[in-house]
Amino acid sequence: MAATRIDGKAFAASLRERVGASAAEFAKAAGRKPGLAVVLVGDDPASQVYVGSKGKATLAANMNSYEHRLPDDTSAADLLAVVEQLNADDAVDGILVQLPLPEHLDEQSIIAAISPDKDVDGFHVINAGRLSVGQAGFVPCTPLGCMMLLTDRLGDLSGLEAVVIGRSNIVGKPMAQLLVDANATVTIAHSRTRDLAAVVKRADIVVAAVGRPEMIGKDWLKDGATVIDVGINRLPPEPGKEKGKLVGDVAYDEAAEVAGAITPVPGGVGPMTIAVLLRNTLVAAYRNAGLTVPEAL
Ligand code: GUN
Repeated sequence: MAATRIDGKAFAASLRERVGASAAEFAKAAGRKPGLAVVLVGDDPASQVYVGSKGKATLAANMNSYEHRLPDDTSAADLLAVVEQLNADDAVDGILVQLPLPEHLDEQSIIAAISPDKDVDGFHVINAGRLSVGQAGFVPCTPLGCMMLLTDRLGDLSGLEAVVIGRSNIVGKPMAQLLVDANATVTIAHSRTRDLAAVVKRADIVVAAVGRPEMIGKDWLKDGATVIDVGINRLPPEPGKEKGKLVGDVAYDEAAEVAGAITPVPGGVGPMTIAVLLRNTLVAAYRNAGLTVPEAL
């Protein structure tokens, strides 16, 4: 039987809708809108596009958007001064410094300067620590979005075998932590894992975040597995075409013959990231204003 297609685009749209409604409630209670500041250094075209769409989505969700576009040769001191100013600004609930930064800037030290209570990306070591010990903080948007799709599809994950392929700080590690917290049995696989296909074959839940186009085929999957594809890879263009096709880490068509449910690329995990960013910003606003965060968020 063909797999159910998990429609991340529709799920993200409904999450943005709920966040927007809740942001309007927040504004009534707090006397101000939630605010998200995005800092972009340099003119990387992909980052320009991301930052533009974040700004639009923020405004559409009844929040204020503050954009700081800085030149490519911005010094660490100048960038840190912007971060400090945003840390001190009560109108700003969330701060996102768009990555990657130009090479002369050290990402870890810039992230470390963001107030952990405004770190809506969940990249600060304090938030990684909070997640690991089970304290309230901020969870990186992409894995949290994957988790929302999984619980929507499967309900209780207790006892399920989950395999996360990829061990990045931004996706793989927090994803594994969230799955463990939901009582799944979790394996983190990576480039040095022996017989990766056999490891993946055990999984009721597969989260693929490796960045290798269509690496995971149907032979790797257990019948009925739920497959979450975080990969966004552009294939080389076909003759006569300007741009190559976007594909995930999973070979969608063949995997869909075996999986129970699977996210497409595009239209799966991708749209969830911005929706969760808005959700995290609203949570930050409630906390920063000393108000109770609504359960539904
Ligand atoms: N670059 C691409 N995605 C992201 C993201 O989610 N957060 C940040 N800070 N930079 C990114």
